[in-house]
Amino acid sequence: MKSPKTHPAAVAEDTREKARAASRAERDWSSVFYRVALSISRELDLERLLWLIMDEVRQALEADRCTVFLWDEDTDELWALAAHGAEEIRFPASLGIAGHVLRTGEVLNIPDAYNDPRFNPAIDRETGYRTRSILTAPLRNHVGETIGVFQVLNKESGPFTREDELLLDAISGIAATQIENARLYAELKDSFESFVETLASIIDARDPETAGHSKRLALYCEELARLLDLSAQDTEKLRIAALLHDYGKIAVREAILYKADALTEDEQESMRNHPVFTRRILEEIHFPKTLRDVPQIAAAHHERLDGSGYPDGLTGEEIPPLARLLAVVDVFDAMTSRRSYRGRMDLRDVMEELRRGQGRLYDATYVEALEQLSVARFLEILNDGELSFMSSADREVLSGLDLRTLVNLLNTNVPTPEVRLFERYYLPDETQGCENGQT
Ligand SMILES: [Fe+2]
Repeated sequence: MKSPKTHPAAVAEDTREKARAASRAERDWSSVFYRVALSISRELDLERLLWLIMDEVRQALEADRCTVFLWDEDTDELWALAAHGAEEIRFPASLGIAGHVLRTGEVLNIPDAYNDPRFNPAIDRETGYRTRSILTAPLRNHVGETIGVFQVLNKESGPFTREDELLLDAISGIAATQIENARLYAELKDSFESFVETLASIIDARDPETAGHSKRLALYCEELARLLDLSAQDTEKLRIAALLHDYGKIAVREAILYKADALTEDEQESMRNHPVFTRRILEEIHFPKTLRDVPQIAAAHHERLDGSGYPDGLTGEEIPPLARLLAVVDVFDAMTSRRSYRGRMDLRDVMEELRRGQGRLYDATYVEALEQLSVARFLEILNDGELSFMSSADREVLSGLDLRTLVNLLNTNVPTPEVRLFERYYLPDETQGCENGQT
């Protein structure tokens, strides 16, 4: 008697069922691939991207771990991000299974690690982890160059399958392309940053009276952006505007810039024109879309809420919010920096000046944010962001104190340890100047 399975109708049904199962598997496979591709194609920050790829691949292959090793061409090493902020993992690119895959470009599917002579059990011994199955595949970019390898460990349901190999190979192309995009983006960002910082150094170096002013302003802006919880985009905009706000001074004649005596009316006019030049020059720079309004922000740093500022006499809301912030830190830095004709101003007078102008000249939100600045950070920025000038014990004492509390302590005239410490760091130039008879 024929078994039901050999009956032609049963065979046809069996074939159809197999085709349906294959189609289901293919749909699952492509939906997994689509989800992973979509997720990683949105990320441009290299570190976040690598974590995302590792997580997505681990889930897609139902594995316990996934590591992306990238090849460092300069040192001929493979490196990977390490969990929990530990230092990155690095080893010579000729070593181990990852090194083998990097050199040969082969996919290696090892069902039982301890039975494969290429497996190095040393890391398992160190960490207490037990590796069972390993799937390692090359990361190839769009021109077929191997830029690193994927290594996936311990599939939950047993050894890795042929489908896993194909899926990893397909994801590899997308991941490698996106990793290269992220690197390119970081390089572009770095070269733009260094370009902006060079411009800022030129203007800071041109006028010894205000040396380091633009860089300090950028550091204060970063602190205030953090205190005000500004978005990453606004923080970046503010930082660039701070670095370039005085760039228009390049158009002011040196005879005016360095003049020790009072400026004539024409000379004052020329000085007051520097924000106009800042705007004109910055408008010639092609800023990325996210930084388009940098020229307007930078050019409005001398505007005041009541319209008494320059160059346009803008009032209140007409002044971009980030320019109002810049105005506060610009004045603050001018008063807390040394000038050829005076030392740093007394911090009580500086903060009093800002408070008096609050709501009339300066936006109260930003004056209040500045009052929350940590004293330790303030002193570091005064020293151009240099952390090493203060001992860590002193920093600890002063970092728990904000400018407002410090001014209150200074006003009580009680020489608390914090006050004595602050005065030691804030006034050394004047003391030195007195000793050398240079005041
Ligand atoms: Fe200025």
